[in-house]
Amino acid sequence: MSKAPPKTLAVVGAGAMGGQIAFQAALHGYDVHLVSRKPERLQTACTDNGELLRRRVEKGKLGAEECEAALARVQASTDLSHIGGCSVVLESVAEDREVKREVLQRISENADVDAIIGTNSSTLSSSLFEQDVRNPQRLLNVHFFNPPLVMQLVEVVRGEHTADATVEAAMRFVSDIGKTPVLVTKETYGFIANRILFIAMQEAFRLVQGGFVTVEDCDLAVRNGLGWPMGPFELADLVGLDVVEAILAEGHAQTGEDRWTPPAILSERVRRGDLGKKSGSGFRT
Ligand code: 3HC
Repeated sequence: MSKAPPKTLAVVGAGAMGGQIAFQAALHGYDVHLVSRKPERLQTACTDNGELLRRRVEKGKLGAEECEAALARVQASTDLSHIGGCSVVLESVAEDREVKREVLQRISENADVDAIIGTNSSTLSSSLFEQDVRNPQRLLNVHFFNPPLVMQLVEVVRGEHTADATVEAAMRFVSDIGKTPVLVTKETYGFIANRILFIAMQEAFRLVQGGFVTVEDCDLAVRNGLGWPMGPFELADLVGLDVVEAILAEGHAQTGEDRWTPPAILSERVRRGDLGKKSGSGFRT
C-alpha cells in the first residue's frame, strides 16, 4: 500500500485568502508554513484567524484543544526558503500577472521538485506560468472562495500539462482539508463560479449606473428575490473592489468581450482608494 504523503503545506501570501486557507488546513491536521514578505501581514493573519477560531470554541463549534493545536501548526515566516519539504504549496498573492510570475518562480526554486504548486488565481490560468516553474506537470489552479474558512467550494483546474496524478492529489488535498472540490477539466476565463458571479455583478453595476435602482435596493432584491446570502454590492465589498476590477479587466483582456469591461461606477471607487471592507469604504461599507 502506498504511504500517505505527509500533511505539509506552504501558503505564500497572507492576505484575507492565504491566511484563512492556512488555518483551514491546520484545522485538518496540516503543518503549515504561512509566508509573506510583510511581517505585519503575517501578524494580522495570525491574530485575526486566532480570533475566528477561538470564537468557534466559545460557540461550542470547536474543541479548545483542537483549536490551540491548529493555531500551533501554523508557522509564520518571511523566508520562502522554508517551503522545501512541503507536499503542497499554494500561491495566494495579488491578482496580478507579473506579481504571480515572480512569486511562482521563487516558489519553484525553493519547493521540492515533486511538490504540487497550486495557484489560487481566479482568472489567471496556471498554464500562463508554465515557463516559470521547474515542473509544469505539478502545476494547476486551486481556487478558493472568500471567506475560505466558511465557503465550501474549491475549484481545481487542470492546466495544459498538469499530470493526472497531480489533479488526483489536488482533489484529495482539498477534500482532506474539509472542502468540496470540483474539477474544471479545461482552462477557461473565470472557471465556473466567477464566470457566473461576475456577469451577475456586471448587471447589478449597470442597473445602478443607469439610475434604475439604488445600491441598497439592488442588494435587497438579490438577497430576497434570489436567496443569495449577500447582494452583489455587499459581496463586491467583501471580495475587494480592486480585485473585482482586476478580475473584470482580465476577462476583457482574455476574451475581448465588452461584457467584462469594468464599469465606471467601480473604477471610480478603486481610483479613490475605496476598496470595500479592507479599506473601510466601498459600496456598502
Ligand atoms: N471570515 C471568516 N469567517 C467569517 C467571515 C469572514 N470574513 N464572515 C463570517 N464568518 C463566519 C462567522 O464567524 C460565522 O461562523 P460560525 O457559523 O462558525 O459562527 C459564519 O461565518 C456566519 O457568519 P454570520 O452569521 O456573521 O454572517 P452570515 O450568516 O451572513 O455569513 C458569509 C457570512 C458566510 C460571508 C455569508 O454572507 C456568505 O456566504 N456570503 C457570500 C460569500 C460569497 O459569495 N463568497 C464568494 C465570493 S467570490 C470569490 O471569493 C471568488 C474570488 O475569486 C473573487
